[in-house]
Parts: sequence; structure tokens; C-alpha cells
Amino acid sequence: MQYNFDKEIDRSNTNSEKWNISKNELPMWVADMDFEVYPGIVDVMKKRIEQPTFGYNTIPSSFNESIINWWLNRYNTKLESSWIMFSTGVIPSISSIIRKVTDINDAVVVLSPVYNIFYNSISNNGRKILDSQMIYNDGKYSIDFTDLESKLSLPETSMMIFCNPHNPIGKVWDRDTLKKIGELCIKHDVILLSDEIHADVTALGITYNPFISISSEISDKLIMCISPTKTFNIAGLQTSAVVIPNDKLRERVRSGLNRDEIAEPNTFAIQALEAAYTYDGSVWVDKLRHYLHRNKRYIIDRLNMEIPEVKIIDEEGTYLLWIDLSQITNDSKLYCDELRSTTGLYLNPGSMYGGNSGSFVRWNFATSLSRIEDGVDRFIKFVKSN
Ligand SMILES: Cc1ncc(COP(=O)(O)O)c(C=O)c1O
Repeated sequence: MQYNFDKEIDRSNTNSEKWNISKNELPMWVADMDFEVYPGIVDVMKKRIEQPTFGYNTIPSSFNESIINWWLNRYNTKLESSWIMFSTGVIPSISSIIRKVTDINDAVVVLSPVYNIFYNSISNNGRKILDSQMIYNDGKYSIDFTDLESKLSLPETSMMIFCNPHNPIGKVWDRDTLKKIGELCIKHDVILLSDEIHADVTALGITYNPFISISSEISDKLIMCISPTKTFNIAGLQTSAVVIPNDKLRERVRSGLNRDEIAEPNTFAIQALEAAYTYDGSVWVDKLRHYLHRNKRYIIDRLNMEIPEVKIIDEEGTYLLWIDLSQITNDSKLYCDELRSTTGLYLNPGSMYGGNSGSFVRWNFATSLSRIEDGVDRFIKFVKSN
């Protein structure tokens, strides 16, 4: 089947957060794609609507089976059904887990720059953020393991939140790095939460490594948060899962998810995930990855050629490009505000993601190539005129 990723959908008047913009603005910020959703998802939703009763819902075993098959077929990783719990979203899960398995004033470690909402989940729940800044050298990021260990070893540290693959830098972590982090968490008795929402969208020929596939010792300390919502652009349907091999830890988290009322699905959440995690859904994802590859190459090639002072961090995961503007600005917030007010192009300032990222921007390239061309034109014009 052919899928038309060039097709542009008018998302105005749909209450879209991304497209809540002024006329002639071009939103390439929040991690939300503009493509028409995989048709199998629409089909199951239409079918469900034809049966017009929308009461409370149960979670059938087929929900867990769909997740198990997806991880087995795409990542050669065997999950057990008993490890899997439904939740309405990754961030609601993370906040609930922080409240349940750590104490007020405990410290939670993150590797910055990182998805900004992690910081909110930690501090809004009265825990302390311990930020281990990654080393940035010659366009590449690596973990400062000495610093990381010094933070994991503090008596107040009870959890680490890890992003695999990593938003915003786009890194697909290798097995050795995962092993090293996992072993440090075991050594210092720190619960390791791995947010794997960006698992599926990787560069062609690259596969992400599920943390749970590294070793059973690490899995014993691990909480894995997953969801089809980034890959299939169904964040508005609120469907995700928490996977925990350790029985005791899982039951604690389960009681937290229940207490926080995030363990019950809306009418479409189960069907949408099951429709997504199918053979045809998998084919759709691979076609999406090809399309995204072309968009990314287009941005990189033109920026490299026309504004070489801008440096692109060309990593292998996510549909978000992390761009170093240090030769141009050290205030990415101001730069993005001016970019938006002058050209309409709306990017995320790197400063949102913490760490040493005040001179970066994040560019969401999950949209039609023609919009990408428009965005690149606007960006180059702005950079050249400043
Ligand atoms: C790393 C990461 N985790 C979680 C989320 C949000 O997940 P949810 O919508 O399921 O709360 C995002 C959204 O961009 C993300 O990038």
C-alpha cells in the first residue's frame, strides 16, 4: 500500500497545540507530526464509533499481546505479559512513579540536555533535580560517567530518568552505554526509569536498543515507559504502557497508577495501540522513516551549504534535529522569538532542555517536504540577515 506523506492536512480549527499559531506562521516545534495517521488506526476508530456507547473500558489481554509482538518483531526483545500495565501517558506515568517510589526531597538524576518535562515532573513533585550535563565535543555528546556516578552515589538519590533514544539530541544509545548506566544504578541502588517513547523512529538501518534487553540484573531495577503516540502521532488518544519485570516494584507502581487515576483507558486508547502495533503498522513506520530521512537530508544539505556557521548534530534517532547556533547566538530563546516574529518559523529554543544548551535550537522535521523547504528558506534568510 502507498502512503502519501506529502499530503498536507489543514490542522487549524482542530484545537491542535502545535498549530495554535497566527496566520503565516510555520510551526516546527512540539514533537507532533503533521502526517495523516496510519489508516489502520482510523479504521478501528470508525468501527468503534459505529457502536455508539462510550462507557468505561476494560483492558483486554490483546493490548499486552500487541506490545509483546511489537517488541519481539521489531527489537527481538521478549516482554512478559505480566510485566505490562496500561497508563494514559508517559509523563503521567513518570510523575506518578516519582511520587510512589521516591520520597519528598529525594534527588532524581537526569542527563542534560533532556526533554524539558522531566524537570517539571521532578520539581513539581517536591523532588530535587540532579542534572548530569553531557559532554559536548566537536558536534557529539557523550556521558560524563565520573559526574554521573558522583550524582548516583549521593545518599539522597533514589531514581534516574533516562531518555532512550534521547530527546532532544537524537542519540540512539548503544548497548555498552546502557550497560554502564544500568550497572551504576545497581551499584548505587538507584531505580532506573527509561523513557522509550522515541523507540521506533530511528535512521534507516539503525535500531534502538531496549534497556530491558541488556541484562536481567539491570531489568530488576528497571521501569520502562513506552507508547505508540510519537511514532503514530496519536498523543491526543492517550495510550501508553509501563513495563516492570520486578514484581515488588511493579505492584508499588501499579498502586500509584491506580491512585492517580491514570490506569483506565478512554474508548479509543486500546484499539488505537492495537491497530498501530500490527504488521501493516510496522510497514507504515518504515515508510515514514524513509520520508523523514529525506526531510532531514534536505535540511542538513541546505544548511551546510548555505549557512555553514550553523552546525547540525546529525544523530540517528527521533524526528527532531538539534542544531548548534553557538557561532551566532548564546541566547536561543531570544533568537527563536525573533525568528518567529520576523519569519513565522516556530522552533524550540535549546535553553528549554537544560544543561549547556543556550545556543541550540530544536527543529521538528515531521511534516511535508514542501513545508520543510519553506522552513529552510525562512531560516536561511533570517540567519543571513542577522
Ligand atoms: C521523551 C518524551 N517523553 C514523553 C513525552 C510525552 O509523552 P506523553 O504524551 O505520553 O505524556 C514526550 C513528548 O514529546 C517525549 O519527547
